[in-house]
Amino acid sequence: MRKPLPRRLAVVREGKALIYIPDPRGAVAGGRFEPAWLEVFYNPLMEVNRDFSVMLASILLSEMKGRYGLRVLDAHGGTGVRGIRYLLEAGAEEAIINDISGEAAALAHLNARLNGVSDRVRVTVADANALMYRLKRETPTPIALIDVDPYGSPAPFLHASLDLAGHGAVVAATATDLAVLEGSRPWKAWRRYMVKVERTPAAREVAVRALLGFMARVAAVFDKGIEPIISIYSRHFVRVIVRVYRGAGRADKSLARVKPAYYCKNMGIVAFTPDCEGEAVEIGPLWAGALGDADVASKVWSLALETPYLGSGRHVARIASLLASEYPLSDGTIYYSIAGIASSLKKSMPSRKAVIDELKSMGYRAVETHFSPEGFRTDAPPRVVADVIARLSPTN
Ligand SMILES: C[S@@+](CC[C@H](N)C(=O)[O-])C[C@H]1O[C@@H](n2cnc3c(N)ncnc32)[C@H](O)[C@@H]1O
Repeated sequence: MRKPLPRRLAVVREGKALIYIPDPRGAVAGGRFEPAWLEVFYNPLMEVNRDFSVMLASILLSEMKGRYGLRVLDAHGGTGVRGIRYLLEAGAEEAIINDISGEAAALAHLNARLNGVSDRVRVTVADANALMYRLKRETPTPIALIDVDPYGSPAPFLHASLDLAGHGAVVAATATDLAVLEGSRPWKAWRRYMVKVERTPAAREVAVRALLGFMARVAAVFDKGIEPIISIYSRHFVRVIVRVYRGAGRADKSLARVKPAYYCKNMGIVAFTPDCEGEAVEIGPLWAGALGDADVASKVWSLALETPYLGSGRHVARIASLLASEYPLSDGTIYYSIAGIASSLKKSMPSRKAVIDELKSMGYRAVETHFSPEGFRTDAPPRVVADVIARLSPTN
């Protein structure tokens, strides 16, 4: 049921959209702004997530044109900002904007009107899972992009979204339960994602791979496989965007990429091999395949630079350029943290540039990673990496 609008509104501009949000002064206490206290959720810090998603959707939807009706589902719509931006900036033809809250639906309606897209928006008030199962029965044409952006963990919504996704459709999921995925609450990670994780120097990538691994296993339940297009870690969220393919063969192929990983405490390294000076603790299972598609990341990079109205265009471009260089090396590798390795070896840290240059001179591939300013990705095995860091340490 739609409810009344929040009493006091403010307007923000994001991308090409003007969006009414509840007055942010209603969500400040002790000098702190907390988006969850707003009558309808809107987090300005997530603009980079939305800018990235809109640029990516614009690339993917233009590739899907002709094969797919360009309908998107914004399953946790809040103010409707994502769905509206997919229409205004990414070439989507129709958007279903859903939220369990009636106030959110009322605001999404108003925002659709404000942006002149009411005729292409269907606002629904429903539990996202109930809606997705209903759409699966009702929808004659498949939905091209399903965006899952709940509070905290997307896990409770992944069965329905992966079940709904047709062959070649895209599922995008945001996780903000980083403490869980990064291993600070191992039991919760086991319950939510059926994954064994603990805090490690590569926790950020473990978080992304734990979520992808869970998605691959859930997709397999429906005889479907996944292929990551983009995976991003940021300080506030993990965002993964995968293409879904139908077929038992596709399911088996993506399940074969879900593997245990090993945390070698003595060397401060997490890898898909138990190569370790001492005991390696098994974690996972994690997605071990590529984290994304480098061509798509390059296109996002160019598009973000060419799009003048993006609030966080430069930030999006910087992330996308790092992704484009690290994705080709991401199949079967986990980034190495120089700080983590140096601290385990009781050495001081060499510079990242020195380590990368040395590995390249030895014939390995090595690149910076978006996961950490002191991390890098290489195809060199763990012991070689540990040796290089020990050798280049300024303590020597
Ligand atoms: C993180 S906010 C979404 C923010 C929005 N996508 C954006 O980019 O601004 C999560 C939203 O999910 C809604 N929500 C919570 N549980 C839900 C459920 N079971 N089904 C649908 N929506 C739900 C909340 O009311 C809230 O508006």
